This record gives sequence, structure tokens and C-alpha cells, in this order.
Amino acid sequence: MRIMTSAEFRKKFFDFFEKNRHKKIPSSSLLPSDSTVLFTSAGMQQLSLYFSKEKDVLRDFGTNHLVSCQKCFRTGDIDEVGDNTHHTFFEMLGTWSIGQNKDGEYFKKGAIKYACDFLINELGFNKNQLWITIFKGNNNIPRDDESEKIWQEFGFPAERIKEFGEKHNFWGPVGKQGVCGPNSEIYYDKGEKFGCGKNNCGPNCAFCQRFVEIWNLVFIQYYKQKKGKSEYEYVFLPQKSIDTGMGFERTLAILQKKPSAYETDIFYSIIKKIEEQTNESYSINPKPYRIIADHLRGICFLITEGILPSNIKQGYILRRLIRRTIRYGRILNLNSGFLIPLTKEIIKFYKDFYPELKNKQNNIISVIKEEQEKFTKGLERGMEQFNKFIQSKIKDKKYDLNHKVVANSGSKIIDGEEVFNLYQNYGFPLELTKELAAEKGFKINEKGFRRARKKHQIISKSSAEKKFGGHGIKNSEQTRQDYKIIKLHTAAHLLHASLQKILGKQTKQMGSDINEQRLRFDFSFHRKLTGQEIKDIEDLVNQNIKKALEVKKQKMTYADALKSGALAFFKDKYPDIVSVYSINDFSKEICAGPHIKNTREIGIFKIIKEQSSSSGVRRIKAIIE
Ligand code: SER
Repeated sequence: MRIMTSAEFRKKFFDFFEKNRHKKIPSSSLLPSDSTVLFTSAGMQQLSLYFSKEKDVLRDFGTNHLVSCQKCFRTGDIDEVGDNTHHTFFEMLGTWSIGQNKDGEYFKKGAIKYACDFLINELGFNKNQLWITIFKGNNNIPRDDESEKIWQEFGFPAERIKEFGEKHNFWGPVGKQGVCGPNSEIYYDKGEKFGCGKNNCGPNCAFCQRFVEIWNLVFIQYYKQKKGKSEYEYVFLPQKSIDTGMGFERTLAILQKKPSAYETDIFYSIIKKIEEQTNESYSINPKPYRIIADHLRGICFLITEGILPSNIKQGYILRRLIRRTIRYGRILNLNSGFLIPLTKEIIKFYKDFYPELKNKQNNIISVIKEEQEKFTKGLERGMEQFNKFIQSKIKDKKYDLNHKVVANSGSKIIDGEEVFNLYQNYGFPLELTKELAAEKGFKINEKGFRRARKKHQIISKSSAEKKFGGHGIKNSEQTRQDYKIIKLHTAAHLLHASLQKILGKQTKQMGSDINEQRLRFDFSFHRKLTGQEIKDIEDLVNQNIKKALEVKKQKMTYADALKSGALAFFKDKYPDIVSVYSINDFSKEICAGPHIKNTREIGIFKIIKEQSSSSGVRRIKAIIE
């Protein structure tokens, strides 16, 4: 095996596939254009319309063979981070052949050939240490005999080719519907001494980590689509394609002969920097170090995409990561400023391959600082409250050696109201309380938490609606004042769309308030707007007013509304069927209304103030004349 740095490994990958007629494409954003999933979790997501032939790959790329290094983010494994293989943010080395080439060779055979060539001849893997898995078939899709045969032709004996069901060997779709297919995975065998010694130990072994999955070759052939209300069917795509993804971090660890990516060059400088600030040792207790290093890297990339900490969607994930990192910093007794030098170290390391991090350095640091200030205050007081609560629950305490309560005559459940109290008043994400509780041998009542949160949301929604005018106006007599409020409401939609067009898609509505005099609109953005930007936004709203556009209302399911690209605000308070208001192609929002019929009714729109509202949130005040 050839030992190489992370930069050399990326380069080797690109060089090999470019030499073999693949075109390098840039990583797409971590925020997918398909809003049914929160993050990009695979390199193929940006290409899905090419697989289904809705877009023409030759027209857009000039070739059907592509290669990329994709920034990915997965949230399903956050609790697993700290072991040898799980990460939140990671890089995926991807290759694609979309539709077969003329001689039909580049489907399964071509993909397997390139994978063998690259791993064995370029990277120096020993073929005897590689194991293969294939799809064993199910009621819908036949067994993948074809791949098995090809792997054998390439010299892999039957005993190193294992078959599995859809959990391991059928990939996709991303979301509920989309392109998908059987896959074949390549595993690296670390050797017997890492194994469980059981007879059938092999890839996907439930008892040991001897086998590491490094490369996934997906044979995209199907489209999973809805059939009836809740059933799905698999239909053949008009063309067969290849989608492969290699785990960059995992493979790098193998190449550098390290137990995990944390000991490779991509993380080790961070781990070292943490070690300098604490008396704890990485080799004795690596988990907190790894969590801090993984999460902080993820945090830097998320903020670079324009995400800000909040209580919904991607913003919530970011908030959870920052707060979890701070808590693990406390566990290692790091001083309160520990995040900033580590952040700079991460940016320094990644700046050549991801210059966007360097460009956003000030922004990244200020968002982390603000969130840290916000949470640190709550953390001390919240921990006091949490400990008090635990004490009150423990009547007859007995501890085990890890200070876990093993005997307790009181209940070992933290009720939902209390979890909500920690969430609402001290900023403890649900998952943080869950983790703290588990450390004390307690569980939390998640359903109770959701009930308490819902109750709170309903109360704040009805007070927001009272202020905003929403449903109240609909039934009331439309006095002149009310009419002005409705006009301002439609203007708010135009403003929202204009902000996204001028400042970028990541600019999200964070709140709004309308009275007879003015519209107040809060949105996520990290800095003061320039005079030119304010003018451009105001002009864009006025242009759409002048165009006299019809405001259309449609009813649809919430899922369809999101799919159609409609903007949503109070995410989890929407009913199953929602109203969507659209103004031509310019604006589309889920909204209870009411709205005017035509934008020309608004008159002239003027922004009278732009100011800060809270951290990372700007506020615009506007009037109409
Ligand atoms: N889409 C596949 C994966 O995510 C291969 O790139 O594993």
C-alpha cells in the first residue's frame, strides 16, 4: 500500500479517472436543491435528473463519464461519531457513467474494472485483502448474478464474495422516490486479529469491525415511485447507469495505516491542538476529542453554506453540533475560548481544496462565537437545573463504578415538560438532555417533550396570528386598514422572494409582523446589507408590483407543496393540506393568507430601515404608499 497525504490521495483519484476519460465536476452544495432532504449525503444527488434522462448529460457536460469529490453530511449517525468510522461531514469520491457508452462496456464490468485498477494498481491494495458483497435479490428485484460473475472473472474467489439483502446491497433512493439500484460493495479486511473469530465472520459482521467498507458501486437501473396511496413500485429507467462512491476518510485511514481518520493528517493537527489544552490523553479516552474534531469540521462547512443556528431544519443540526461540541469541551476541561483556535486550524488545513472556508473565515468565527455566548450562559444554569431534577428523582440511590444509578426507588424517566424546560429556557437540544440522562442511567420522555413543545407552539402561533392578522382578517369585514394589512402581507411575499434572489437562497424568513403602518420582516443573513443591495431588493419588489401579477392560491398536500418548491416557515405546524400562494414564477409560499388578487394593488413599496434583529438575523421595515 502506498502511504500518501489526503491531498495526494484526492489528486491520485482525479488523475486516474481523468486519464480514463472522466470529466471532473465540482462538489455541489451541502444544501440540496431537492428540499425533501436536509443535506447532500451522496455525490450523485446533483445528478439525479441525468440518470432519469430528465436532463441531458451530454448537452450539459459534453461527456457521460464524470468524477467528483463531494462534500457530504449525514445526520443519522451523530450519536455514533467518536468510533472509528462515523462522521457527520465527510467527503465522497464519486464516479459516474450515465447511460452506457456505445460498446456497452461501461456498466457493471467497466465500473468493476476501474475500481480494481485504481485500488490495486494505483493505491497498492493487496487483492487478497479485498472482499466483495452483492445483492441477493428480493421479491421485486432479481439476484445480481451478473456482478458475481464479473468479480470472479477479475480473480475474486467465491468465498470472498458475499450476498446480502436490500439493507446493505440496494442503494437509494435519496428520499422516498427516485433513482436506485442494486449495489456491490468493496470491503477491506484489516486482518484476523481485528475479527471476532466466528465462522461466518465477513463484511457486515455483527460482532466485529474487521471489515471496512470502502467503495460502493451502484448499478442504477430503477426508479422507485409511488403506486397508490402508500405503496411503491420499481420501474426500469430508460437507461442504465453507474454511480460509485468511495469513503474518502475511511480509505485514507487505511492508506496511512491508522486505526481511524482521526489519526490521519485531516484530523491529527486538531487532535494535537486539543491535547495541548487539556491534561486528558487522547490515547486513553479518544471519544471527546473525536467528537469535537468531527463536529467542528462539520460546523465550519455548514456555516460556509450560509446556515445559521436555529431551532428548525439545518439550523437545528448546526445548533446541536455547536452545543454538543461545547459540552465535550467541558468534559475535557478546555477553556471557554477553545473553539476559535481549533476553527482556525481546520480552515487552515482545508483552505487549498475548499477556498470557500477561508473566504468565510470571519463569518464562521462570528457565528460560532455568538452561539457559544448564547449557550454557555444557559449551560451552567441548565446543568444546575438538570442535576437538581435528577437529585429530586433519586430517592434511594445506589451507584455503580461509573456513577450510574443502578438502584432507584423513584422513576428513571425525565418527563417531557422538564426536557422542554431545559430546551426552552437553557437551550438544551433534546438530544443533549437525552445524552446527559443516559449518562445518569435515566431515559427521557420524548413524546412528552413533543407534546409540551406543540402546546407551546400553539400558544405562540395564536399570539403571532393575532398580531399578524392571519385568520382573523379572513373572516372580518375588510375595512380600509385591513386591506392595507393584506397588501403588506402580499408585499412580504415579494420581499421574501426578492431577498432570496438578491442575497442568495440561504436567506430565510425568521419572522414577520404587520400592522396598518408597516411591514417588519426578519431574515437570516450574517451582515449588514449594503445600500446597493437594499436598493436592488426594493426595485425588484416594485418591478413585480408594476408587472400587475395575479396572486394565485392552490390547495395541496404539505409534501407536494415542498416538492413544488414552495417556501415554508413554521415547518411543523402545517396541516396535511395547505394553501400555496404563488405570484407567477417569482414567489411561491405555503401560507394561510389572505392576499390581494393582483400585485398592482400594493402601490409603491419602500424599505425604510435595515437593522440587526438578533445574532445572524437582519430586520427590514417597509411601508407602502
Ligand atoms: N450513491 C452511493 C452512495 O452514497 C454511491 O455513490 O454510497
